[in-house]
Amino acid sequence: MDHLLAALRAVAEPTRLRLVMLCARGELTVSELTQILGQSQPRVSRHLKLLCEAGLLDRFPEGNWVFYRLSRSGRAGALAQQLVAACGETDPTIALDLQRLSAIKQQRADLASAYFRENAAQWHRIRSLYVDEREVEAALVDIIAAADPRDLLDIGTGTGRMLEILAPRVEHVLGIDQSREMLSIARVNLERSGLANGRVRRDDMYQLALPDASFDAALIHQVLHYADRPAAAIAEAARVLRPHGILVLVDFAPHTLEFLRDEHAHRRLGFEDDEIAEWCRAAGLDPAPSRALPGDPLTVVIWTARRRAAAVRQSAGDVRATAPPALVEGELH
Ligand SMILES: C[S@@+](CC[C@H](N)C(=O)[O-])C[C@H]1O[C@@H](n2cnc3c(N)ncnc32)[C@H](O)[C@@H]1O
Repeated sequence: MDHLLAALRAVAEPTRLRLVMLCARGELTVSELTQILGQSQPRVSRHLKLLCEAGLLDRFPEGNWVFYRLSRSGRAGALAQQLVAACGETDPTIALDLQRLSAIKQQRADLASAYFRENAAQWHRIRSLYVDEREVEAALVDIIAAADPRDLLDIGTGTGRMLEILAPRVEHVLGIDQSREMLSIARVNLERSGLANGRVRRDDMYQLALPDASFDAALIHQVLHYADRPAAAIAEAARVLRPHGILVLVDFAPHTLEFLRDEHAHRRLGFEDDEIAEWCRAAGLDPAPSRALPGDPLTVVIWTARRRAAAVRQSAGDVRATAPPALVEGELH
């Protein structure tokens, strides 16, 4: 009871309730929250500290940035989620905060897509700076060969490299990406490789224009570190998996290379195994042990998870349960 009372006391203040509502929408930094609330940084930090102490928010420092998100664990986490549902979005102050949050997200998305636009052509070169691609690709081919899916969805396909290496292993692959420039290169690459079972479409990983349970396998390769809502991207991938379907995530282990944020639009500096496992479970997936491929300076990690037979899908942030009108831009085949 004491914990509950402490949590209720912590949230019983307008700015703090606003912070809880905002942090339910993704992982946000103090400077983003300060920008939205229009209050001084020390003041916002004080409120955030109280909310974290009460167990309503989780705080996680990562390099020079500190992120805040709604707690998903413990009684205070459950209370935080109930408060978010009860508060709704119709209050004018909350509605304005959420509008400002959307504007900030849009700015971020614009910056990221400008980065991808500028780097589409050199993407292969940029990727090879960080990892030994052949080792990762061989491991992925082994995982997909063992899982033996009929079809595979490559989320954030970029230049389509994953489609090229995995298409020969399945009947049908679909690559989606939000960047037109990346997709135009992916189309050229698919055509050049003569892969008749590969298609690409423009789509958003947070709200895929695809039906529930429509793929045996989904891959998110080197995309999550750009995501402001990685848990929501995982939940959306889980939604389109058939029962027992496999999700394969490839990204970096936690690291400290801040320049990847400054120069390469990364948002997260890698991921912990526990964090990924928790997001998978919340999305109705059973995580398997991860596999690390150590590199210098970055270690690549491959996480896999299977969709439960009767997946209990928990909404992750503001993931939409139904697919929006297709963003489909045209397909290769
Ligand atoms: C680093 S590239 C990785 C491409 C590819 N998976 C690979 O490893 O070759 C990241 C890709 O994610 C895409 N992306 C970022 N946010 C996205 C979103 N919300 N929906 C779809 N694609 C997204 C970018 O456009 C970019 O092509």
